[in-house]
Amino acid sequence: MKTISVFGVFVADLCFISNAIPEKGQTILGSQHIVGPGGKGSNQAIAAAKVNGNVNFITKIGKDKNGEMALTLYKELGIDTACIIQDPNYSTGVAGIMVNEKTGENAINIIPGAAGTLTNDDIDRNLNFIAKAEIFLTQLETPYKVTSYALKKAKEKGLATILNPAPACEIDDDDFKLIDFFTPNETEAEFYLNKKIETEKDIKSASEKFLKKGIKNIVITLGEKGCYFANKKENFFIEAFKLKSPVLDTTGAGDAFNGALAVGLSKDLDIKEALIFANQVAAISTTKQGAAASMPSMEDLNNY
Ligand code: RIB
Repeated sequence: MKTISVFGVFVADLCFISNAIPEKGQTILGSQHIVGPGGKGSNQAIAAAKVNGNVNFITKIGKDKNGEMALTLYKELGIDTACIIQDPNYSTGVAGIMVNEKTGENAINIIPGAAGTLTNDDIDRNLNFIAKAEIFLTQLETPYKVTSYALKKAKEKGLATILNPAPACEIDDDDFKLIDFFTPNETEAEFYLNKKIETEKDIKSASEKFLKKGIKNIVITLGEKGCYFANKKENFFIEAFKLKSPVLDTTGAGDAFNGALAVGLSKDLDIKEALIFANQVAAISTTKQGAAASMPSMEDLNNY
């Protein structure tokens, strides 16, 4: 099986659960507070490891309690921690997450902390580990210049690259050409094309625009509607996995999808099979609370 190198952020998620997400200026009484592992890169690494992916994770954390939470978890899950920098000068990041327990929807504010100080040198120091992998998976929570540099290096070393553009931020024109798989959700796709995406026709024409930018394969995730795939040869919709239990918390569902997609590709699954698998992992993750804590294992998938 191929190795997946994930570059991204770990933070401690401070989750506030209640029957609504507060409006601007509103105070509400919540029902539950949970502190757990989060950060998109870390969630994706964990999602991949839980479904038997071979993962190394590149990030920076502080020498503190939250940083220890990350390292303990990675050790338990067999994630290679050789590329994790622990810097006593910074705190591990945190995210404040408001979850609506009735709909599973959320609102997130993330402070990347130590991971916000990652540099190109940190990538260079870990180049040997990147070169040993075959798939490179990243997001946009790390400083953009460093993410762009890491994508360039991964491509130079011959890896297949996946960029999950979350949270959406401007991407240099040249960098689109470094992306083998681009995985925005509808809102992120709208950000890049500055156009509303509402109909199937909008989704197809958005994908064509992304392919014209130099991206090799585009996957637009559509929540409960599944996802859409396109490259120069083929395009198709894939329905969402049908759940038999209620959606509790959608936090990390996109991360579950990306981690599982990377594993599908690492096992050389046909792209359709890899996307069906990613849809299933993402859907099942919404039936549990938390971000990393909701990632299903292979056993969970088989038992579902
Ligand atoms: O995608 C969900 C994640 O986004 C949360 O875990 C939070 O930490 C933010 O990074």
